Amino acid sequence: MKFKTQKIAYYFFAVCMLLLSLQIVYGFIMGFAHMGYDNLHSIIPFHTARATHTNLLVMWLLAGFMGAAYYIIPEETDRELIYPQLAIVQLVALVVVGVTAIIGFHFNWWEGRKFLEIPRPLDYLVVVDVLLFIFLIGGTIWKGKRYSTTSIVLFFGLLTAALLYLPGMIPTTNQTMDSYWRWWVVHLWVEGVWELIMGAILSFLLIKLTGVDREIIEKWLYVIVGFTFLSGILGTGHHYYFIGTPRYWLMIGGFFSALEPLAFLGMAMYAIAMAKKGGRQHPNRLALTWTIGCAVMSFVGAGFLGFAHTLPQVNIYTHGTLVTAMHGHLAFWGAYAMLIFAMIAYAMPQLTGRKLFDNGWSVFAFWTSNIGMVAMTLAFAVAGVAQVYLERRMGLDFLQVQKEIEVHFLGLVLAASLFSLGIFAFIWIFIKYGLPKGKIENVSAAN
Ligand code: HEM
Ligand code: HEM
Ligand SMILES: [Fe+2]
Repeated sequence: MKFKTQKIAYYFFAVCMLLLSLQIVYGFIMGFAHMGYDNLHSIIPFHTARATHTNLLVMWLLAGFMGAAYYIIPEETDRELIYPQLAIVQLVALVVVGVTAIIGFHFNWWEGRKFLEIPRPLDYLVVVDVLLFIFLIGGTIWKGKRYSTTSIVLFFGLLTAALLYLPGMIPTTNQTMDSYWRWWVVHLWVEGVWELIMGAILSFLLIKLTGVDREIIEKWLYVIVGFTFLSGILGTGHHYYFIGTPRYWLMIGGFFSALEPLAFLGMAMYAIAMAKKGGRQHPNRLALTWTIGCAVMSFVGAGFLGFAHTLPQVNIYTHGTLVTAMHGHLAFWGAYAMLIFAMIAYAMPQLTGRKLFDNGWSVFAFWTSNIGMVAMTLAFAVAGVAQVYLERRMGLDFLQVQKEIEVHFLGLVLAASLFSLGIFAFIWIFIKYGLPKGKIENVSAAN
């Protein structure tokens, strides 16, 4: 660790671990409900569990991106973060807003729009909080001694992610328009600007872990940004097939979204090529494993399984079924959860001075969580394909089909238990690393 303010990242990562644990609890509540054991229904009905599960996911991923940025930006700009105490205020405010939203869901205070359930008054607070974050990161880059491609791509990814939250707040009473704008947030985040954040963090990790020249790694970053925008922006059309928008979206969405896997394939090839070229000199092999794992699994979950249902001829059957949940899990895990895990695996030894990466538990955490998640994806796939055949091809009633596929959720719960073992091993190592060296109050670097 070169700069004292980088240790702010630790607190964001700790919040990630906490919220991820809670997200998993709600995953199990839904897994059991799908098996027919919806015993908590009167306190936590399915829709509440689902909104809580997915919003916790988005919250911990955002906290992870922020932590990664607070770690990366001082190092890339070669100066301390401006106003570090405000970064702590920003974290506390984010947690307060998030916890309020989650409690609200349990009292039916929500908007009922998938992924954007947070009630409107809290949306404004989220915007203020994210603006403060952008100000701290942007100000540090502005005052920094060096502008690197990695830090600029990371900054624009974060800034555009913040701006793209706004279309979701456009008031309308028209269902089609509401869905139309909702996808500007959900799709343009995960298949657009979050990919910039991902490209930049991967680039930072590869520069540190492989020893390959920055020029070579950053040149690739431009290619990936290019591919992402070329395919991802008009690829939004794969959500406009059946929501009441004009028919030309079938063509545009089908064509451009079919190209999207190329950006993820590019990232996987880039990570593997750089690791080979650099000869893996860095002692923290585990962080490199998570980094390459992220690039590869994002291609499988987002690229391959995304392509599997992106053409309108397929999507007309699979739309809104458990096939979507199958893809959603591996895509989010591979691209964004593993990215944050890679960042944590790299940063923790630097922040605390302890080297726990050679530890058997760390290796166990990587393999068990990944094998568990792949098994979960398979369980969702089996349930999803059965659902599509029974409900969409044979015309059986929705609830009757849900009863038929209950058995597949035993497989899901078993796979999820394996996955959770891996996650808890990762969290255990995180706890064993302990606090970063020195107290945060000692950090006075607003110069
Ligand atoms: C890391 C990147 C990605 C993530 C995290 C992700 C995640 C998700 C999630 C959570 C959904 C459900 C959204 C909702 O219904 O509100 C979804 C839907 C969808 N995704 Fe992805 N995705 C990614 C990349 C891709 C790519 C590259 C493709 C295409 C090649 C794709 C194709 C689709 C399609 C067609 C749907 C709509 C499914 C339906 O009609 O129900 N996704 N994705
Ligand atoms: C123990 C672990 C987990 C279990 C048992 C679990 C289970 C579930 C279930 C049953 C659903 C609802 C599917 C439906 O609508 O019927 C769901 C939704 C979802 N979960 Fe998980 N989950 C777990 C962990 C995770 C993790 C780690 C991630 C992300 C990396 C994740 C991402 C999602 C997403 C994005 C959705 C919404 C999918 C969609 O829109 O169709 N889950 N989960
Ligand atoms: Fe999409």
